[in-house]
Amino acid sequence: MPHHILRAAIALIVMSGLWLGPALAATLPEPAQLKARIGLAPVPVEVYEPHLSTQQGPVKRSYLAYRFEVIADLVFGPMWRDGADTVEFRALDGYVSRIPIADFLAHKAYLAVGLTDDGPFTVDNLRQNETDVALGPYYLIWENIDDAEIFSRGPSIWPYQVAEILRVNTSDAPLRPAGLDPALEPAVDLAKKHCLNCHKLNGFGGNKAPGDLAALAQALNDETFRSRVLEPQLVQPNTTMPPLSRELPDQERERILKLLRAYLLKMPGEG
Ligand code: HEC
Repeated sequence: MPHHILRAAIALIVMSGLWLGPALAATLPEPAQLKARIGLAPVPVEVYEPHLSTQQGPVKRSYLAYRFEVIADLVFGPMWRDGADTVEFRALDGYVSRIPIADFLAHKAYLAVGLTDDGPFTVDNLRQNETDVALGPYYLIWENIDDAEIFSRGPSIWPYQVAEILRVNTSDAPLRPAGLDPALEPAVDLAKKHCLNCHKLNGFGGNKAPGDLAALAQALNDETFRSRVLEPQLVQPNTTMPPLSRELPDQERERILKLLRAYLLKMPGEG
C-alpha cells in the first residue's frame, strides 16, 4: 500500500474511534489553546459550589465550562469509555482524585475554566481553612442542583488545579489484605471515598498528606482519632484536612468513623 494511503487509512481509523490504543495519560492543553482546537467557547454552568456550601445551606455559583466528555473525547479519543474503569485527575498540589468512568456516564461533569461573572477563578475552601485557592487551569464540576446523589458526595469529586488526566485501572487489592475480617469490607469503600484522595494506605491513594494512613491512625488513641476525623481543626487549627462529610447525619458520621477506626487498626501500617 502506498504511504499516503496508509497514512490516510490510519488517520481515518483514529478519527472514527476504531483505534484500539487511545492515549492513557494526557496533559491538558491550556484553556485558550483548547478553545482554538475544539472551536467551541465554554458555556455557563450553574452548580451548588460544595467548597462554599455550609450547614446553613448550599451556595450557587456559575462557571464557564466544557462538558467533560467533549474534552475526554479530544484528549483520549472516543474509546475512553471502554477498557479502563477510572479517570484519575492529577492536581498541581498533589491531590489525586480517582473517579469511576461509570460516574461520568451516569452524571453530568464539566471542566470549568473560569467564572461566568469574570471574577477571579478561585474559591474559598471553607473545610480546609484555605481562602482564594486557585482553581485553574481546570476545575472538575458537576451538575448537582438537580442531581441529589452528586450533591450528597460533597467536594471530594471536585478536584481543582487539574493539569493532567489519566485513564487507569485501579486495583484496590492493597486495601484488602489476606485475612481481612469481612465485617470490615465496607470500610474499604469508605476509606476510598473519604480519605484516600489525600492519604496513602498500603501503597494505594493520594500524596497530599505524608505517611501511611494506618500508621498515622495507629499512633493516635480512639478519642484523638475521633476528633481528628470529625473536627480536625480542633486538633490542628490550621489543618487543610476537612472534617468527615458534614452533609451526612451525625449518626452516619459516627458509624463511618467507627468502621474506619476498626479497619485502620487492622491494616499493616507500613505501606
Ligand atoms: C483533603 C485532604 C485530606 C483528606 C480527604 C483527609 N485527610 Fe487526613 N490529613 C490530611 C493532611 C494534609 C494531614 C497532615 C496534617 C494536617 O495538615 O492536618 C492529615 C493528617 C491526618 C492524620 C494524622 C493526624 C496526626 O495528628 O498525626 C490522620 C489520623 C488522618 N489525617 C486521618 C484521616 C482520615 C481517617 C480521613 C478520612 C476520613 C482523612 N484523614 C481525610 C489531609 C486529608
